Amino acid sequence: MIPTLEWTSDGVRFIDQTKLPLEETYVLATNYQQVADVIVTMVVRGAPAIGVSAAMGVALGAKSTTALTTEEFTPEFDQICTLLAATRPTAVNLFWAIDRMKAIFTQLSSSGATLHDIQQSLLAEALKMYDQDIADCKAIGAHGAHLMPDVGGVLTHCNAGALATCGYGTALGVIRGAVEQGKQIHVFADETRPFLQGARLTAWELMADNIPTTVLCDNMAAVLMRQGRIQAVVVGADRIAANGDAANKIGTYSVAILAREHGIPFYIAAPWSTIDRATATGDLIPIEERASIEVTHHGGKQLTPHGVGICNPAFDVTPAKYITAIITERGILRAPYSQSLQVMELVTP
Ligand code: MRU
Repeated sequence: MIPTLEWTSDGVRFIDQTKLPLEETYVLATNYQQVADVIVTMVVRGAPAIGVSAAMGVALGAKSTTALTTEEFTPEFDQICTLLAATRPTAVNLFWAIDRMKAIFTQLSSSGATLHDIQQSLLAEALKMYDQDIADCKAIGAHGAHLMPDVGGVLTHCNAGALATCGYGTALGVIRGAVEQGKQIHVFADETRPFLQGARLTAWELMADNIPTTVLCDNMAAVLMRQGRIQAVVVGADRIAANGDAANKIGTYSVAILAREHGIPFYIAAPWSTIDRATATGDLIPIEERASIEVTHHGGKQLTPHGVGICNPAFDVTPAKYITAIITERGILRAPYSQSLQVMELVTP
């Protein structure tokens, strides 16, 4: 399995996703500030991977504190959580993971636990999230595999694979699950401008698994759909609102509209931790705006004239009406999502 991130005795080790596919190098974050930096600079990216990275960052911050008591550590703990929460705004998994770490801290500190016990419990919680993420991705894969064609083309956008999670992936987990069932899937990977997660990362990890893959520029999907080469679309999500609207990598929304126009099912694959019931609709999801240099430059070379206006929203929101189903580890949700989310939460809490 691709080692996206792992806890080691020296710190948290990440595969450097900014260097893939040309170089397979690793970055070791030895303090929580470095973990925050690794998230901001996209060495690690993808909603579930960001969440578990932040949890490990909190555990690392607790491990390396010079505080001697829980009381002394409390303001530092808040500082650690605040810094990690400020790294990226859209993927709700980040806040979900930090909230879980905060809940452990609050519970233990209010019951008089020693700082040593708190350090151990924070690490145990982060490692639990890591294992759970892999198990969730495998369950998503098993549920979603049935929705994939027996033989055919499946389009994906960005990278919702092993590299975006602790392993196996969400959207790519569904594809892996289908391939494991013996389905003959050919993956079409949108290159995903401007950061090229599809061209660089999805292509790299699928090729490592010998899954047939073709990279296309983002503006080519319509033609392939019209030619009958794409039977399904499956993508990940960074935050799913209570009504089923789903934020994912910029460009996902246009793929969903194209799929609808061509009568192709459009699936979102995401763990339950990506669902944000506190956010009523997609309009309320905060969308990260990234640096203009990602658009103006490529490979160190300037592409655009000096001074031209640039926009670089990292995500867009696909309205629920375009989503055929949402595939989670608990099962498959169908519209109306506000109801199916509520029902599934009751059935499988
Ligand atoms: O900016 P990124 O690369 O972090 O964006 C990633 C995506 O949009 C993924 O599709 C999403 O996080 C789902 S990952 C399982």
